[in-house]
Amino acid sequence: MARKILITGAEGQLGKALQIGLADKFNILPTTRQPSQLAKNRRNVQKMDLTDKENISIVLESFKPDVIINCAAYTDVDGSEKNKELAHKVNVEGLKHLIQLSELKTYLIQISSDYVFDGENGPYREEEHTFPANYYGKTKLEAENILRGTRRKWAIFRPNVLYSPDLFCKGNFFAWVYKSLLKNQSISVVSDQISNPTLTQQFVKAIFQCIIMDYEGILHIGSDDYISRYEFAMEIAKVFGFDTGLITKIDTDSLTEKVKSYIAERPRHSGLAIDKIENELNISSFSTNYNLKSLKSALA
Ligand SMILES: NC(=O)c1ccc[n+]([C@@H]2O[C@H](COP(=O)([O-])OP(=O)(O)OC[C@H]3O[C@@H](n4cnc5c(N)ncnc54)[C@H](OP(=O)(O)O)[C@@H]3O)[C@@H](O)[C@H]2O)c1
Repeated sequence: MARKILITGAEGQLGKALQIGLADKFNILPTTRQPSQLAKNRRNVQKMDLTDKENISIVLESFKPDVIINCAAYTDVDGSEKNKELAHKVNVEGLKHLIQLSELKTYLIQISSDYVFDGENGPYREEEHTFPANYYGKTKLEAENILRGTRRKWAIFRPNVLYSPDLFCKGNFFAWVYKSLLKNQSISVVSDQISNPTLTQQFVKAIFQCIIMDYEGILHIGSDDYISRYEFAMEIAKVFGFDTGLITKIDTDSLTEKVKSYIAERPRHSGLAIDKIENELNISSFSTNYNLKSLKSALA
């Protein structure tokens, strides 16, 4: 019988890609905080709000998942500085509820972030010291530590700058650049924040592999090149044939001065080493240029 996989935050960027990528391989239950009527009808998405213990308990009790993939999160990095209580409730307490209310044998896969590092000295390996620079990163690290301290079977993935062909996801950097350039709008993009962006389709492959191998431990995932957000935006423009002249460089300090809501400290020299995931899950990593070309064919 196919294993039962419960996905939290299933209507978010990664959650949607998981619904598509895992549906024919497992018995999936997609859940989210507030499913739209369309999501309920088309994909049978159920309500599961990580801040509501009773709701979580009812869903877990009836589905009894073998695996939970926790993609749900309060992902607004600047919002987390102002709404610390809510960020903590979703990102930390939410995971605690999943641990407490699921069966002991349930395998938990937690989606964390490169923001557990301060970004002073990337790319980082899995075992390097964590030291988050902002409150969002602190909640992601606290959640990791809670999971690591349990007797559960667990895996933790740390992606960075997640992107996908889903042009309607709010946290999708690619979608913002693509839609702006398509409308011939000029954009300023930071040139001093380095990462190795993670394409959701690649991520889904890694999560699938993790489940079938019953992998336990922490894994980093991203492309095999380390680039600034500005370079990433330029690569998008080149691959999709947009005018690169619409993109201008800005540094983080100037952006902070210009945009008043940009209040959270950002890791500058981040990025995640990817040799562990390649060796242990047998996952190949590709350049951002290669990933963008495959995303282009997905959009066509
Ligand atoms: N996006 C990135 O660049 C990035 C980078 C590194 C790590 N990550 C991590 O990767 C994971 C997936 O990110 P993503 O880009 O897919 O995020 P996303 O698109 O913002 O999706 C997060 C989902 O969580 C849901 N959610 C929020 N509060 C909830 C609650 N109380 N109960 C249940 N669901 C709730 C959201 O629903 P609503 O929309 O209804 O609020 C949303 O569907 C997250 O853990 C994030 O921290 C993301």
